[in-house]
Amino acid sequence: MSAQLLEVPRLVRPESLVRIQQVEKTYAGRQGPVRAVASASLEVGRGEFVSLLGPSGCGKSTLLMIIAGLETPTSGSILLDGSPVTGPRRDIGIIFQDATLLPWKSALENVLFPVRILRLPLRKYRERAHELLAMVGLTGFENKKPSELSGGMRQRVAICRALIHDPSILLMDEPFSALDAITRDQMNAALADIMEKTGKTVIFVTHSIREAAFLSDRVVVMGGRPSQVILDLAMPFPRPRRFDIEDGAEFNAICRRLRLTIEEAHGGPAQSGTAARANSVE
Ligand SMILES: Nc1ncnc2c1ncn2[C@@H]1O[C@H](COP(=O)(O)OP(=O)(O)OP(=O)(O)O)[C@@H](O)[C@H]1O
Ligand SMILES: [Mg+2]
Repeated sequence: MSAQLLEVPRLVRPESLVRIQQVEKTYAGRQGPVRAVASASLEVGRGEFVSLLGPSGCGKSTLLMIIAGLETPTSGSILLDGSPVTGPRRDIGIIFQDATLLPWKSALENVLFPVRILRLPLRKYRERAHELLAMVGLTGFENKKPSELSGGMRQRVAICRALIHDPSILLMDEPFSALDAITRDQMNAALADIMEKTGKTVIFVTHSIREAAFLSDRVVVMGGRPSQVILDLAMPFPRPRRFDIEDGAEFNAICRRLRLTIEEAHGGPAQSGTAARANSVE
């Protein structure tokens, strides 16, 4: 799989916010160097929602951490809004698989935590925190501790926390993978709604093909050994999106194509019956 398949119509691309240019990452592993990313080049436009899919270990989290300035690339560069990313930045919000809330603080205090760290005016941001919690349906839960909230609620608090200081981009690494299927669907609908309301740029890592296809403007597949971008596919569904697009033939054809690309990157189908499984989640 050598050629990159860039299938995004160039004319409709929004202004570029993130430029990932020939990023390579080799870790100094205990048993010798581990080449996590061979050469990743990708642009993400302002307001775009781009998902990264690919086999486990292909370097998705590594690339996300490099974009966040939490890992240094071995070579290549990242530009955010025209300036190089050389370390953690205020204009980036990050959400991980686990909500990682402070257990002794309330939902409201957790949302306000970055405001305290960044020494921003608490009074002004308290109002914004209430607005964000209302936007994700958590009015009335402001004073609950994380242990009193469900997994989906905790992840919604984490989304509010990532949005509180109004970053220009949200980086999400498998944020819903620990949730049950129904809660995950609800979170997908909530996230699509939040993104439509806030117009944030998002780079979203997931193993769920359907989640990626439903949420994204573009789905990027990483793969190969060592990995690179092997497919960059625009999702042609109008917004706002409703779950019934998932019943359509086009949605399912796209999911099938993404699955086959990932399987190919993995070294072929895991087992027989690929076509029959092509529409299933994960
Ligand atoms: N700190 C590290 N030191 C050494 N090797 C690492 C380190 N972090 C990741 N790796 C290796 O780099 C490769 C890519 O890891 P990464 O976590 O980015 O993959 P991923 O695509 O996010 O996988 P998954 O889908 O399982 O989360 C793997 O081979 C992993 O073992
Ligand atoms: Mg990962």
